[in-house]
Amino acid sequence: MNKKLKYLQSAKKFIPSAAQTLSKYPEQYVIGVTPVAITRARGAYLWDIEGRKYLDLVLALGPMIFGYANPRIDRAVKKQIARGTIYSLPAAKELELAQLLSAVVPGAEMSRFLLSGNEATSGAVRLARHITGRDHVAKCGYHGFQDWSICTKEGRNAGVPKILKKLTHDFIYNDPGSLEKLFRKYPKQIGAVILEPASSEKPNDRFLQKIKAITHRHGALLIFDEMVTGFRWSLGGAQEYYRVIPDLTCFGKAISNGYPLSVITGHAKFMKKMDEVFVSTTFGGYTLGITAAIETIKMMRSLGNVQRQMHKLGNYFIKEFNKIAEQNQLPARLTGYGPHPIMKVTIANDYEARIFKSYLYQEFNRRGILFSASLMIGYVHKKSDINSVLKAFREIASALKNHHDYKYLKSALQGQVAAPRNVRA
Ligand SMILES: Cc1ncc(COP(=O)(O)O)c(C=O)c1O
Repeated sequence: MNKKLKYLQSAKKFIPSAAQTLSKYPEQYVIGVTPVAITRARGAYLWDIEGRKYLDLVLALGPMIFGYANPRIDRAVKKQIARGTIYSLPAAKELELAQLLSAVVPGAEMSRFLLSGNEATSGAVRLARHITGRDHVAKCGYHGFQDWSICTKEGRNAGVPKILKKLTHDFIYNDPGSLEKLFRKYPKQIGAVILEPASSEKPNDRFLQKIKAITHRHGALLIFDEMVTGFRWSLGGAQEYYRVIPDLTCFGKAISNGYPLSVITGHAKFMKKMDEVFVSTTFGGYTLGITAAIETIKMMRSLGNVQRQMHKLGNYFIKEFNKIAEQNQLPARLTGYGPHPIMKVTIANDYEARIFKSYLYQEFNRRGILFSASLMIGYVHKKSDINSVLKAFREIASALKNHHDYKYLKSALQGQVAAPRNVRA
């Protein structure tokens, strides 16, 4: 039994799933091959319990635009640690961050600080429900594990009261008609429309403008979940990138480069109503997250090219990866935006698709690269990093060229096939 498997055996005795986040579950990768636990990280690199070094294309699921243990951000955070991490009364730095956000994000007149993305989306939805006096929510993707959101996701909604499905309705990205239909089906009942401005799909035919118009025509509030797009698409978020300003916005992940912080922000006339709903938590105003966010924004402003560079490097990666995949007739393509490429495997059979994906993960891992289907490009990545990933992919692709037989791929796996995303293996 190798060191990874031994660790997993012990971890599973004390930690359910041996991880805290679905995307980090060992089953999401190749058990036996992919590192199972990390002991340190710096820049764009991770070191696992076996002391092996990996170039990280996942960046802790998004936060680390400036990389792990960034000296400038950590210096500011250490200074703050010496002044206390959380106080009995509001921290003066909250005002500094709220003012900075207001200066860089178009729709951020007032802000409320929390810790996780879950808290931000839940708080924003509650606020919209209160303002409109309506209970129903229209959504279009993942917004966290909380009941109102995850209730409609089969495979992930165990333990969630079924009755909640009556209040949450999914519409389809790039299909404004699907939202219009919901408003017609539930007249004057939908108070909040929440969506990520973009993800693997790009908004086409003025989709975001249309969603905003439909939402307002029916008297609801529009919430952008900018957990992933925030500080990645542009410093002002996807709302600046697409020039569509929502009523409320939720930020998290990359706004504080690895320190916990999330934000509900929006127009003052709506945010002032925050006084009337109960959104409150002990660690709200956590000074380390706030300090890190202030420093992150300041660095982004002074560098000036952070988002441009992530788009450029990521788009180069997408283009070159797809060229190699095409030349070698591989059933995988990168889609989405430079700062967040997403790999689509074009094999209809889910098990075969997972075998193919697992083989890719394994071969990247063997070459010292942590690769997943949901990739994050940071300012910390250099062109040489991406070129080394492309070089590895070229090798993998040419070895794969004559092996489209999934039985062969399965036999070449030195670990378990990655599990489906929804259900625990
Ligand atoms: C779009 C989106 N919204 C909300 C969340 C939830 O954020 P958190 O995991 O910080 O609670 C995530 C997390 O992956 C996300 O990607």
